[in-house]
Amino acid sequence: MLIKSAEFVCSNTDVRQLPAPQLPEYAFIGRSNVGKSSLINAMTRRKGLAKTSQKPGKTQLINHFIMNEDWYLVDLPGYGFAQTSKKNRSEWEKFIRAYLTKRENLQCIFVLIDSRHEPQKIDVDFCCWLGEQGLPFLLVFTKADKQSAVKTDQNVAKFRKALLKFFEEVPQHFITSSELKTGTDEILAAIHEVNLN
Ligand code: GTP
Ligand code: MG
Repeated sequence: MLIKSAEFVCSNTDVRQLPAPQLPEYAFIGRSNVGKSSLINAMTRRKGLAKTSQKPGKTQLINHFIMNEDWYLVDLPGYGFAQTSKKNRSEWEKFIRAYLTKRENLQCIFVLIDSRHEPQKIDVDFCCWLGEQGLPFLLVFTKADKQSAVKTDQNVAKFRKALLKFFEEVPQHFITSSELKTGTDEILAAIHEVNLN
């Protein structure tokens, strides 16, 4: 799918103020610094569309971007940001979980996992929570340019195996590098397929 237009719409903490749920929507979530905002920029080929930073905790709000005037990409704040206060963390929990469970036009959640690491409990727990809620999700292994393809494949296999303890079937995955802009067309194709159905 070609992205002909990609525009920022709004930032929110209040689920009641989100854009009207008329268009299909896809959200990116994962640990702070995993590369959610960078992936949105790579997918849309627009460098500064979503704000990125070397420091974790950059994205703090629910950010809506409209693609081809037809569907939304949503950049969410990351979880597991150690330097934030407990109060902040529970605020995050509240508003993100409210968004994920209540957003009626949310078609699919992309859970981003850092491909450099062995399975992390926080990511496995988060996928389990999505599963318990019956929320559809797909996996994206980010920053694949940072190590060899063999290492990436090993970590992907380990993560899928970790999920198999809790799921009968593990969702499809993508391997991406926002630096090299790889894996982004595959994600867009998956979104296109859902939009058609
Ligand atoms: P929060 O908004 O804080 O939750 O972070 P985020 O998940 O949106 O991460 P962000 O896109 O801001 O990227 C974090 C850092 O990782 C930045 O320094 C990016 O340049 C870097 N980064 C993101 N994706 C990639 C990638 O595919 N390859 C490499 N080498 N660096 C990446
Ligand atoms: Mg971000």
